[in-house]
Amino acid sequence: MPQPNVIPLQSPASEPALRDGMPLKHVIESQQFTVPLLMELFERSRGMEHVVARGGTLDYQNRIMTALFYAPSTRTRLSFEAAMHRLGGRVLSTENAGAFSSEIEGEQVEDSIRIISGYSDVIVIRHTAEDGARRAAEVSIAPVINAGDGNGGQHPTQALLDLYTIYRQRPLDGLSVAIIGELDKGRTARSLAYLLAKFDRVKMFFVSPPQMQMKPDILDYLDEHGVRYELESDIDRVIGEVDVVYQTRIRPERLRDADGLRRYAIDSKVVQRMKADALILHPLPRTVELDKSVDADPRAMYFRQAMNGLYVRMALLTMLLDKEPAAGSAWW
Ligand code: CP
Repeated sequence: MPQPNVIPLQSPASEPALRDGMPLKHVIESQQFTVPLLMELFERSRGMEHVVARGGTLDYQNRIMTALFYAPSTRTRLSFEAAMHRLGGRVLSTENAGAFSSEIEGEQVEDSIRIISGYSDVIVIRHTAEDGARRAAEVSIAPVINAGDGNGGQHPTQALLDLYTIYRQRPLDGLSVAIIGELDKGRTARSLAYLLAKFDRVKMFFVSPPQMQMKPDILDYLDEHGVRYELESDIDRVIGEVDVVYQTRIRPERLRDADGLRRYAIDSKVVQRMKADALILHPLPRTVELDKSVDADPRAMYFRQAMNGLYVRMALLTMLLDKEPAAGSAWW
């Protein structure tokens, strides 16, 4: 049988290694990452761009990833699955775990995870509760990756790929970033704010209707770490001065006034007021807040951003799997 066009994961994908190895067992929130760890992840992610271009590798062919999604997803679940396949590994997947797992019979996530972590080497979970991924990690013998938790928790791997997308374009120190949308419930915005705070001289503008502003947990963290930020409700006051515009959704059910929604939208007119070299990011999916007329603008990064999710998730999987022995050891 013909083999795919595969390459082993030697340098540059696996170099330079972290001197003391991967310090994380689980990936639950952005605050866990240090700048050296981020740089290692991004170097590996660059390597993965080459690995994918050559068709993938078989280096992880004896490893199994479970994708356990209790809430809908297009990009996160499929890019994690594609990542594991490109690494040569195998995937167990349930896309509506609340309905198609024993949790419909009342099984708690802890019991599900105890079982599944014996079947697989890494678990990627999107849970409906804000503490769902953490509860999973507390009982899992395999690494757990939070793929978005609850309605206002975190989505750390999205933030990793967001930051990688910026990193591929420009230095991260000294950035000014507008983060726009429903920020109190915005998992991706929340996780990105924590990551950006790791870099020097970053300034964030949180732009949202006042009732949807960033919650105190993040603002307190930024204050404690001396990170500059401003709370803003008018997009016009910041759009022309920032290096990065990170646009996110405002769900119409939370802002029923259509004019109010439009005030936070980006279209070809708003884009004209941005810096010539600004970057426009969006975690997707989008609705009215990011008009399709922006797609052709060279500053629009959001489709590249989604593609980068594959590379970053491949890199993250290798860092976790390289550290972990293959499944089979019992938890009891
Ligand atoms: N950005 C993101 O999390 O997209 P999905 O909901 O499609 O996974």
